[in-house]
Amino acid sequence: MSVTLEDNKRTAIAVRLADMEATQNLLIANERALIEACHDREISNRLENFLKDDEKNLGIINTVIVQYGIKAEPKATVQKMIEKATELMENSELSLFEKVAEHELLKHSQTMAGLLIHKAGQVVGADIAVAITPLNTVNFENRAHQEQLKGIMEVLSTKELTGQEADQGLWARVQDAVAAVSGIAGTLITHTDAEIGICDLIRLDHTKVTALFKQIQNSNDPIKLEECFGQLYKDLSAHSEAEEEVVYPAVRQYYNNVQELYDEQAEMKLALEQIKEMDPTNVDQFKTAIVALMNAVNEHVEEEESDMFPRIKSSLGNEQEKRLATEFKACKSKIQDKLLAEQTK
Ligand SMILES: [Fe+2]
Ligand SMILES: [Fe+2]
Repeated sequence: MSVTLEDNKRTAIAVRLADMEATQNLLIANERALIEACHDREISNRLENFLKDDEKNLGIINTVIVQYGIKAEPKATVQKMIEKATELMENSELSLFEKVAEHELLKHSQTMAGLLIHKAGQVVGADIAVAITPLNTVNFENRAHQEQLKGIMEVLSTKELTGQEADQGLWARVQDAVAAVSGIAGTLITHTDAEIGICDLIRLDHTKVTALFKQIQNSNDPIKLEECFGQLYKDLSAHSEAEEEVVYPAVRQYYNNVQELYDEQAEMKLALEQIKEMDPTNVDQFKTAIVALMNAVNEHVEEEESDMFPRIKSSLGNEQEKRLATEFKACKSKIQDKLLAEQTK
């Protein structure tokens, strides 16, 4: 018996993340259409701000999916819902209020999707919590948007029903509601997706892998061991391949020990293949092999973080760090797409 790399719970969460990405694209398309149709300056300013947030959040959701490490297609029902919602937005018989009301529902479902992914992730494994942390920003902003959308709906509905302006104090109340939400969110918002440098991105992967090793060490349940190893295998494979394709070539001229890093990763890949052929119900043997791998990986990570990172910081500029981060993410994403294509063959 060898290890099965697929795990239903993890795949189900990957599908929810893909649903979120598809919904995010719809939110953006809706906002563009609403801005076009709206003639109230206060409302269109708010919509413009949503659009900016949502475009940035699409990038964050994208990064989270790559960090999560499993690609999936959105559910067929979500794809149908998106088609229907797009038709509604194009329907000229609907009033602007009715379109904004539809948009608010969609925002609500997106907020809920983010929260529910967090809840599910908490049950499945600590590594998932690491990967999806940036979703906090998206969830917080969606909640703030919802509060503002309620205000927009009040203005539009009052005008449509009575021909008069909404109550004067409306936007002040909306501001209070948004402030209350941001009080809850606290200091969750750090930097935007576009500001993440290559060292941050590599470190995120390392943290996730450490969380997986910890879960393996703390468990004697063959099913849990198999799940965690499956994820570890995928994460380490994509991470090391992307380092070899994007990062190592870029630092070679500044850092003498790059060849060592390549060699260590070649050994790590061999160990991963060997463990993949082992029987996880033979718990002791399985865990011993993984602990040996963990020690090798820890040493490798230590070298990268305390030796290679300072070279990157001192030799590459900020812009190049960001460019490498984008390339690293794209490379991992490509590897994950390949895995998805192989599975769905
Ligand atoms: Fe590495
Ligand atoms: Fe690494």
